[in-house]
Amino acid sequence: MPLRRRLNSRAFHVYIFSSILLSWFPGFMMSAIVTLDSIEIYNTHEWLPSKPTVYFQCKGENKTYLPDVKNTHISYTFKGEESWQPLTEFPNTKCKRCGLYEEDILKSDIFDEWEFCPSDFTNPDGSYNKFIENGFNVTFLCPDCVPLGSDSNHASSSHNGGKGMHVAVVILISALVSTVFILGLLAAYKYWQKRKREQDQARFLKLFEEGDDIEDELGLGPLGGVI
Ligand SMILES: *[C@@H]1O[C@H](CO)[C@@H](O)[C@H](O)[C@H]1NC(C)=O
Ligand SMILES: *[C@@H]1O[C@H](CO)[C@@H](O)[C@H](O)[C@H]1NC(C)=O
Repeated sequence: MPLRRRLNSRAFHVYIFSSILLSWFPGFMMSAIVTLDSIEIYNTHEWLPSKPTVYFQCKGENKTYLPDVKNTHISYTFKGEESWQPLTEFPNTKCKRCGLYEEDILKSDIFDEWEFCPSDFTNPDGSYNKFIENGFNVTFLCPDCVPLGSDSNHASSSHNGGKGMHVAVVILISALVSTVFILGLLAAYKYWQKRKREQDQARFLKLFEEGDDIEDELGLGPLGGVI
């Protein structure tokens, strides 16, 4: 029946539309970029008084050179939009093994290497400060990590507006999609019912007409055969 096929395709479109929306949103929330906000190094590993070459690297990823960081005991701050930003990206809540290094001709010296996790970003502004005595003081920024890491940090998420916004938006969109979907289904069902009733009526009338036709063809009026 063509009508039923049309109804099915309509429901199918609504379904596809809502699936795309719902699959897009978690993906949107689950990817978070990390930028360098500030850095200060306290020593270099150079034997000669030359300028150090400092870089950040996560295991399996490219090196990010910090071209400005040349002197000790100077705090360098960044906008987050420098050509070498962002430092890295968290595709999910999993930690990465990352470190801060100083490149040398023979081999790189390690300032520090640590497990870098989205859940480290517990500050409401999305910052995370790492301080190593006689090493460095670095502040990373990852505003999108705050909702990611908040599962294990309920205390800090209670006064965090960013996460509330995300959740509110998702709930709103879900409610909207569900409403549209249900309304669409209802309308489709109503339409189908109406059409079915019309068709039944038409078939019923047709039966009567056919009955009349047969009687006419035989040249018999109602009850003609009996008389
Ligand atoms: C890493 O560097 C290589 C070569 O410079 C480049 O082709 C690749 O896209 C880089 N990967 C990432 C994740 O930036
Ligand atoms: C590290 O740097 C941040 C930002 O510059 C600063 O607020 C913080 O006090 C510093 N921490 C230490 C231990 O020097």
